[in-house]
Amino acid sequence: MVLKIRTYPDPVLRGKAKEVTNFNGALQRLIDNMIETMYAAPGIGLAANQVGVLQQILVVDINARQQAEYPLIALINPRIITAEGKAEGEEGCLSLPGFNAVIERAEQVFVKGLDREGKPVDIEATGLLAVALQHEIDHLMGKTILDKASPLKRSLYKKRALKKSAAE
Ligand code: NI
Repeated sequence: MVLKIRTYPDPVLRGKAKEVTNFNGALQRLIDNMIETMYAAPGIGLAANQVGVLQQILVVDINARQQAEYPLIALINPRIITAEGKAEGEEGCLSLPGFNAVIERAEQVFVKGLDREGKPVDIEATGLLAVALQHEIDHLMGKTILDKASPLKRSLYKKRALKKSAAE
């Protein structure tokens, strides 16, 4: 089932997602729906906050953009263990329609988390995968690329988005 993607200024995007402790059928359905929603958008990543759920779940699949070592990733309770180097690149976000900004990220990250069955997984990521994981982990902490953009870009987008939501 394709879920509704929450967009700015929905307060759920500022919420901090809680650790997942129950790997039950409801979690499996939510993950399947998040995957379907990500592909339908289409996007290369989605965090649970973006579908209105404050649980630490993210899905990433960068294969639409480039050949990747990892196919589809569903990661629960992710933690960035090490982050090295710096890389700048243009990013967009499904929750911020019409917004793009050059964002500075770590070039390489080592991430630990759990797979959808609750088994520990380690991911060594560079390039676009590293960017996507950092972007989605930020979502789970209540942060978006709007927080990392320049103050001018941020205020212009906020004004535009607020005017649009007032008009709806
Ligand atoms: Ni995003």
